[in-house]
This record gives sequence, structure tokens and C-alpha cells, in this order.
Amino acid sequence: MKIATCIEDLRQTARRKVPRAFFDYADSGAYAEETLRANSADLKRLKLRQRVLIDVAARSTKAQILGAPAALPLVLAPVGLCGMQHGDGEILACRAAHEAGIPFTLSTMSICSIEDVAGAVKKPFWFQLYVMKDRGFIRSLVERAAAAKCSALVLTVDLQILGQRHKDLKNGMTVPPELTRIDNLLDIATKPAWALSVLRGKRKTFGNISGHVAGMENVNSLSTWVSGQFDAALNWKDVEWIAGLWGGKLILKGILDVEDARIAAKTGAAALVVSNHGGRQLDGAPSSISMLPKVADAVGSDIEVMFDGGIRSGQDVFRALALGARSCMSGRAYIYGLGAGGQAGVARAIEIVRNELDVAMALTGTKSVGDIGRDSLVL
Ligand code: GLV
Repeated sequence: MKIATCIEDLRQTARRKVPRAFFDYADSGAYAEETLRANSADLKRLKLRQRVLIDVAARSTKAQILGAPAALPLVLAPVGLCGMQHGDGEILACRAAHEAGIPFTLSTMSICSIEDVAGAVKKPFWFQLYVMKDRGFIRSLVERAAAAKCSALVLTVDLQILGQRHKDLKNGMTVPPELTRIDNLLDIATKPAWALSVLRGKRKTFGNISGHVAGMENVNSLSTWVSGQFDAALNWKDVEWIAGLWGGKLILKGILDVEDARIAAKTGAAALVVSNHGGRQLDGAPSSISMLPKVADAVGSDIEVMFDGGIRSGQDVFRALALGARSCMSGRAYIYGLGAGGQAGVARAIEIVRNELDVAMALTGTKSVGDIGRDSLVL
């Protein structure tokens, strides 16, 4: 892997190394991608307040995330199909996160299963839950996450149905890739290192699902599967049910509205994540960062506020903290690292963001992440 100095470098390398269908799956957003673009553009509009002649020799990016210490206020977000960016991608990303001292979240739609990851890493990770119509299966997933000693359950609440991603349809994206399309076959033929890593990987399909749900052995199209299985009836009562089943730290991911945030704060959940699913769901929704201060003001200290949506740098983490987040999730930033260079690529992605955050703190005269606030920006 060439020296990557920023997340965009990792993205460009991943674009060359990962088959188009999987690169596009992670990289793109829903419909016209207006919300995807707004997430990044609105972050960049926020200007950091340069301060000078403040002693910042002893500064630290260390943070508390849900009461646990972390090396920086960053969590690797749940991303489906990590194991199609690189063989055993979930295990490699989890190891990189743990080595860097931050949490990793395993997606329900992962390739390696909960048990595969738990058996391959030394510390607990977080598990992200999608709710399907088959509630017996949901109960068993929650039980499996508990048995694997997952330390938090991240309930995604903004994907009752799937927003259309044009490229997935045009690319014929399936898991594992169907090699009947000549363009996909030719594309994969030019990515031998990827093919080898995926061939060597533990699994080639959805590890949490395949073999656990009758009739789901051969389902390989995400959109077909989601439209058949995901529960559009999901509502606040289900949150209560899941909180009861789980009993541990629950995080509600996908809150973008002040009214929803107020309800979320009353559920007893440990945290909410201000998120529009990385611009992959409701295209035309506001950027996550534009809603963050409103949500943070509405819930105060009733619930821990996390942020997700467009984080590609340490400066972005700084911006989100300034507007009220206690920590950030980032998906694509580490997925590009994974595609570019496996575990080392994920480690590099985290290191890039950490170093950028450290420099941003120093040059704004900030010694601890708890000191980052609205007056750290020029608003
Ligand atoms: C599912 O989580 C997706 O955004 O593709």
C-alpha cells in the first residue's frame, strides 16, 4: 500500500483494488445522492477557530464513549458486507479498532458472523441490529450478541425499507458476486489480490443469517432480501421489546429529528446517533451535521449524543464535537482503508483521523476533547 496521507488516498486505492460492485455499494448513496453530498459539504462549511499562544503541549484525544475509555471519540460504524471489501474484513477491522483503542460495530449484514468475530478478537465489540419480521430470529440474534459478550447493541432505526442505490442495481451487486455477468467477471479478473483474500476468507455470504433462517441459504441480493424480510412495521414499542431482551447498553442509530430525539431520550437507551445512514436512505433529508445542534439542544444530558454522516477527517470529528456530539461513528473512512490494505489499511484510516484531530486540537488551543464546544468554531 502506498503511503496514504488522507482518507481520500485510501479511497482511491480501494477503488482500484475492490471490484466495482462492492466499492460502489459502500461509496454511494440513495437516489440522486443529495443527502450524501450535503453530509460532507455542510461539515466543510464549519470553520475552526484558530487560537494561538495557548500551551497545548499536554493535550489528549482520549475520550469516554458510553462510559468506557477510548483513544479518541470515534467508533467504527456498522457497515454491511465488510468481508466483500477484503476477505475476513469484519475480523480485520475489529482487530484494527481494538489495537487503536476504539470500539468496532459489527453489522447484522456482515459476512463474518458474530461468532466468527468473537472467536478471532480479544475484546468485546458492538453489534448492530436490523429488525426483521421473523421476531424469533431477532430474539436469537440478540441472544447470540449477548452470548458473544458484545458490549453494546446498536439498533438501526432508519432502514425499515431500503432507499434505492442506483449503482447497486446497475452493477447487479450480489453476495457472493454472480459471475454470470461478463462485465463483473472481467472486473474481478483485474483484482487478483482481492479475489485471493475473499477466497481465503471464512465465508462468502451473510454469516449471521445464512444457515440461521430457513429458506435464506441462497439469498444473495441485498435489496431483495431487505424488501422481503425487514419489518416496515418497526415502531417505538419494538424498541421497548428489544431493550428488554437485550438488557445492556442500547444505542438508537438513525435519529435526525428533534421530536424523535425527545422520544429516544425517554426510552432508557444509553445513546442516540444523529444519522441519515450516510445519505443511503432518505435522499433529500438534511445533512446530519445540520441537525446535530438541534438534537443536542433538545435532549441535553438525558441521553448521550453520537454523530454519524460524512466524517472523513479529524477536523470533521472536531466539528461534530463542537456542535454537541460526544463521539462520532464513521463507516466509509475505514471501509476505504479495508479495501486498500486490509487490517493495516483500517489502522491507517484510524491513525489519519486521530492525527488530524490532534493537530486540530492543538491549533485551536484545545487540550482535551471535552473542551471542544461551539466556541471552538467561527460560526
Ligand atoms: C445497509 O445497511 C446499507 O446501508 O446498505
